[in-house]
Amino acid sequence: MRKKIVAGNWKMHLNKKEAINLNEAVSNNIPQNNVEVYQFVPSVYLDMLQERSTIKIGAQNGYPEDAGAFTGEVSMLQIKNIGIQSILIGHSERRHKFGEDEQFLKEKLDAALYHQLEPFFCCGETLQDREQKNHFETVHEQLHASCFHLGAEAMRSVIIAYEPVWAIGTGETATPEQANEMHEFIRSVIAKRYDQTTADAISVIYGGSCKPENASSLFQQQHIDGGLIGGASLKSKDFLEIIQSF
Ligand code: PGA
Repeated sequence: MRKKIVAGNWKMHLNKKEAINLNEAVSNNIPQNNVEVYQFVPSVYLDMLQERSTIKIGAQNGYPEDAGAFTGEVSMLQIKNIGIQSILIGHSERRHKFGEDEQFLKEKLDAALYHQLEPFFCCGETLQDREQKNHFETVHEQLHASCFHLGAEAMRSVIIAYEPVWAIGTGETATPEQANEMHEFIRSVIAKRYDQTTADAISVIYGGSCKPENASSLFQQQHIDGGLIGGASLKSKDFLEIIQSF
């Protein structure tokens, strides 16, 4: 079933004390409005926050092999083992700064589902794609290459985050209409590949400079089920306002 979701992506920010404070400030002030709230935190804080948090803590990354000679990596199995339930896959920073390609993202998605981690699969076009009017094709191709091998049941446990690359961390947001149009498109290709029931069951959230000032107009759109929030998730006041704007 489509859920309302507001998820913070802390990226590589905050020291330990700040991480605890931010988690507490949000946990202690969650409005009762049926929104599922997550914080995707740096891996060094996963275990600590998982133990104390009353809101969901997710991992920003995980390696698909269970164990082995992969110096510096943390496996999805290890993440699951400490009680984490959710993971980001395909974030544009992983795609563009760390060279994660569609085949690797497919492997990560399979590993996450195998370990019963709820994947937030991120997709989105670059500015160039949009200027060349290739944005629908790009997003379709990302879904096709990394997700559409899944069976319908597995697909229903994936949350899709549409994050246009040109809007991430830039202050520039897709208009509610632009975002809604893409979310509707994403749902239509899922319906075509699977069926309408599957398309209607999947939450599609928006990310890219989502902030208190624009959250409510985005969340009012028919096909937008919430947000993946970067910069504004680092301030409890802003993040709580975004949650409240549903
Ligand atoms: P932003 O980041 O809200 O700072 O644009 C969103 C994201 O990268 O998930």
